[in-house]
Amino acid sequence: MPTIKHTFIGPIRQALTLSNLPLKGALKDEQMEIISEAGILIKNDKIHQIGSYWDIFPEAQSIGAEIVTLKGDFVALPGLIDCHTHICFGGSRAQDYALRNAGKTYLEIAKSGGGIWDTVTKTRKASLEKLAQLTVQRANRHLKDGITTIEIKSGYGLSVEEELKMLRAIKLADENTTADLTPTCLAAHIPPKDFEGTHRDYLKAISEEVFPILKEEGLANRIDAFIEETAFTSEDIQSYFQKAKEMGFDITVHADQFRTGGSRVAIDFGAISADHLEASTGNEIQILANSNTIAVALPGASMGLGVAYTPARKLLDAGASLAIASDWNPGSAPMGDLLMQAAVLGTYEKLSNAEVLAGITSRAAAALNLTDRGQLHSGMLADIILFPTNDYREITYQQGRLKPFKVFKRGVEIR
Ligand code: NIG
Ligand code: FE
Repeated sequence: MPTIKHTFIGPIRQALTLSNLPLKGALKDEQMEIISEAGILIKNDKIHQIGSYWDIFPEAQSIGAEIVTLKGDFVALPGLIDCHTHICFGGSRAQDYALRNAGKTYLEIAKSGGGIWDTVTKTRKASLEKLAQLTVQRANRHLKDGITTIEIKSGYGLSVEEELKMLRAIKLADENTTADLTPTCLAAHIPPKDFEGTHRDYLKAISEEVFPILKEEGLANRIDAFIEETAFTSEDIQSYFQKAKEMGFDITVHADQFRTGGSRVAIDFGAISADHLEASTGNEIQILANSNTIAVALPGASMGLGVAYTPARKLLDAGASLAIASDWNPGSAPMGDLLMQAAVLGTYEKLSNAEVLAGITSRAAAALNLTDRGQLHSGMLADIILFPTNDYREITYQQGRLKPFKVFKRGVEIR
């Protein structure tokens, strides 16, 4: 007989379930379900019951649940989800900060041979084990901050073998951290300088040689591409995405970061998400709002590069679904503080608490096609974080300085 473990947590001053919120469009704080004096009964790795502490407590006691009695005021949220990162990489790009502040743009640095290619060189030098170790360290830092699910892209390998090395490193990292890691193949990050052939030859080689192995080894079921001047054009990517779709991969796109075009590709291919969108204008906002593609804002990249934020307010008001992610990477977004960045985006874009919090929980889960997390209700994974406050509004108000006091991942207390 498999052993069943019950854990009961409470009393929780406010539990924000983030359930029953529409997936798309603007949200008001009043739409959030808040359970006061809540208790959460966990059965193994899932939420068994959530409701009034005093209603559930007798049952929890009678079934011999481990009781985690909270002393003080706490607000519970679902574990945060970072649906866009690049935390598997070697080296640093600290020199880029000074270069950019001295007047060079991100694209100029890229064109002069630095930028992403610089990280490719450093990542190729690192062994699979070393990359896995670095990835685990970064994932664990996120986990302490309450981020229990983390998407991680390849894209610093840029050859058949090196992309596979990265994705195998992410798989190994997943086995060595309590956080859940969702891998994405971003072999179409930039055209590799050392590939003999055209950009399209490179993409063809990846789709023929890497895609089948992703399936065989279970390395990723998501394919991403960077549509940009220094990366791939909308035309370049057509047959690559076509092949990916035929093979059943989810599509996601680095879109409209510096110029438009990517969001159109995302929608044409029914992408699950279009990420960046700093350069999106009214037309792109409208087509995204009319689609089921989730718009992902990456405020950390705007902060890193000193450029405009994704027009989050306009996207939401037009009816789009908006998730918020850190884009944690060595180039444009080295900070990697999801909650801080989401709260600051909220300040600049006039987002409600509901919009910010859904953006890093339920809507971020949707951007990863994950239906078992991002909300607190029975049947969901017991990914639960507790902030030491009596008022949920403190979480965004303190712009990331208020850290979770406790983090439960799949029912296990890790902090
Ligand atoms: O999402 N824009 C393209 N890719 C990453 C940056 C990667 C890098 O600069 O190393 C991004 O910002
Ligand atoms: Fe990115």
